[in-house]
Amino acid sequence: MSSHDGKDLYVNARRIAIAGCTGAVGRSLLQLIEERVFPTSELRLMASARSAGTAVTALGRTTVVEDLATADFTGTDIAFFSAGTAVSAQWAAKAAAAGALVVDNTNAFRMDLDSPLVVPQVNGALLAERPVSGIVANPNCSTIPLVRLLQPMHEAYGLRRVTAATYQAASGGGQSGIEELRAGSRNVLEGWPAAAERFPEPLAFNVVPAIDRFQDDGSTLEERKMRQESRRILELPSLDLTATCVRVPVENGHSEAVVVDCEHPVTAAGLTELFAAQPEVEVWTDRVPTPRTVTARPDHVHVGRVRVDPEQPTRALFWLVADNLRIGAALNALQIAERAVEEGIV
Ligand SMILES: NC(=O)c1ccc[n+]([C@@H]2O[C@H](COP(=O)([O-])OP(=O)(O)OC[C@H]3O[C@@H](n4cnc5c(N)ncnc54)[C@H](OP(=O)(O)O)[C@@H]3O)[C@@H](O)[C@H]2O)c1
Repeated sequence: MSSHDGKDLYVNARRIAIAGCTGAVGRSLLQLIEERVFPTSELRLMASARSAGTAVTALGRTTVVEDLATADFTGTDIAFFSAGTAVSAQWAAKAAAAGALVVDNTNAFRMDLDSPLVVPQVNGALLAERPVSGIVANPNCSTIPLVRLLQPMHEAYGLRRVTAATYQAASGGGQSGIEELRAGSRNVLEGWPAAAERFPEPLAFNVVPAIDRFQDDGSTLEERKMRQESRRILELPSLDLTATCVRVPVENGHSEAVVVDCEHPVTAAGLTELFAAQPEVEVWTDRVPTPRTVTARPDHVHVGRVRVDPEQPTRALFWLVADNLRIGAALNALQIAERAVEEGIV
């Protein structure tokens, strides 16, 4: 088993479907399935009526995109959904009822108690049993790398309070977000205004502290998701976590500045060692990781500026960078599928 050229024999190969295959996350998922040689015996690709009928070449074959609205999931083992929350709310349960294990990238099922919210490196054990709903929810792109660092911190030092500021890339707003940043940057350089259609304010040469809808309490839905999802994944229902989520003019790769108040004193050396011991985490000591410099290893969470507040020995601070399309979405989804296969639930 070494390629997806259709000639290899796959042991335990699965029939997979991707709803949202033409989007930023869907494309990353296709690339990752190829790179990680996920055993795939059948590939079905779905999107809206706009893309239905177009041909996509991936895994050594050309596949015609189906209209999700008329797709029948019978015979599909694993269905990945990344076509938006409303689309998942309408179709994911139907795919699950047809027998597929759904791995959902949207916000539709993250708080549904019948659908586990999984980051395999943190709570992958939840995949030992097939979910009641048939759906596994993939967390938000900023939550995933954060909880991968908070979990070992909780075990070592006890979490008292977490304060995060995010610096989120345009690709978090999908393919249209990337295009709006590119077009806006060209416009500004040529002396024209930058449009703000995908984002609430022009993003080129700017920062925008508003991601997703505002809530009654003045926070945004993105900020609420980080709190609620972290609490659920870490099984700390009253974890004190506050976030301010900011869109920045970076094409891909989210960053976060994190302050963690712990129960016990922390040392920078101890924290560095703890992070470095985590799977697929890389600690930078000589340089600082940035979205542009971590691209050589996009499947790692990159951590830098690990330090302790000189006036508060229980307060740790660090900076993280993670590829939002891969770690924050497609890679986590595929690692869920890999673990589900390993556990024999699909
Ligand atoms: N981007 C990220 O970093 C990230 C991270 C975590 C989670 N997510 C979540 O993943 C989902 C997809 O994000 P994205 O960044 O890939 O967005 P995107 O680039 O805008 O892609 C959206 C995809 O959904 C399809 N779609 C839209 N409306 C549809 C409909 N009514 N029926 C069927 N398919 C439809 C689109 O197909 P057409 O080509 O036909 O329009 C496209 O394939 C969102 O829910 C997002 O919140 C994204």
